[in-house]
Amino acid sequence: MAADPEQPLSDEIASQGWYATFELAPGVETPGWFDLRSVAEKLPFPADMSGMRCLDVGTFEGFWALHMHRRGAREVLGVDLLDPASWDWPVGSDEAVVSALEGRKRGGLGFETVRAALDHPVERRELSVYDLDEERIGRFDFAYLGSLLVHLRDPVRALERVRSVLDGHLLLCDLVHLPNTVRRPWTPMAQLDGRGRPWWWRPNLAALLRLAEAAGFEPADRPRLVFLPPGAAHPRPSLRPRAALRALRTGAGREVLFASRFGAPHAALLLRPRR
Ligand SMILES: C[S@@+](CC[C@H](N)C(=O)[O-])C[C@H]1O[C@@H](n2cnc3c(N)ncnc32)[C@H](O)[C@@H]1O
Repeated sequence: MAADPEQPLSDEIASQGWYATFELAPGVETPGWFDLRSVAEKLPFPADMSGMRCLDVGTFEGFWALHMHRRGAREVLGVDLLDPASWDWPVGSDEAVVSALEGRKRGGLGFETVRAALDHPVERRELSVYDLDEERIGRFDFAYLGSLLVHLRDPVRALERVRSVLDGHLLLCDLVHLPNTVRRPWTPMAQLDGRGRPWWWRPNLAALLRLAEAAGFEPADRPRLVFLPPGAAHPRPSLRPRAALRALRTGAGREVLFASRFGAPHAALLLRPRR
């Protein structure tokens, strides 16, 4: 789907769901599910990426690809699966959930809107992380993979495919299970969802690192916890005592409440392929 050059920007923004917050013109912001702008400065991207060929895996609207372009990357390629029906769904998932995600994603229109408004040169290819292959896309000096492993049935295979096209560092920033990270910092463990929606493994920080090691990476910096701040479109459950008490009764309720106030817990790992 391509952005319509005749449509005013504010109408185009309002006509679709947004994952990230972008300022597309002075004072014109997309209502993102997350506002990643403050996080971008905290993650260990090289300050100067000039000369680098970079890969953004699961680019969505291209937030991180654009970030690497702005840091001077010579070339950035974003890959993504534009049709949510081709994500990793557990058997028995509800068609209504697939359609709701298709409605938000709209064939990847958000990427086109951002590219047209900000006139950036990032390329996007429709390609699954599982199909990354040097013959098709060449090799890269740096790769970013964010908030994607949680949606994959096979995160180790995905990381192996990233390693197969990478000469330099991978910055991996994915969802972690916060209570298990705090309670069991040294024990790799993951909670399995896998029911009704493309949410799979939720590792603690130690398990996220173990997944990366199992795929042939080693740490190149200390891991850090980051919280992705909610954007304007993020649901904000009520804090009225009765509603809050109800939410606090279940793990899922506690998670939504926490994320809506403090952000979604992620761990950022700077990794390099093990020689
Ligand atoms: C939660 S969003 C994260 C967006 C972005 N990476 C970020 O960190 O802000 C997950 C993205 O991964 C994409 N995705 C899902 N399955 C994929 C796969 N097998 N290969 C590549 N991308 C995939 C989705 O289309 C979506 O754009």
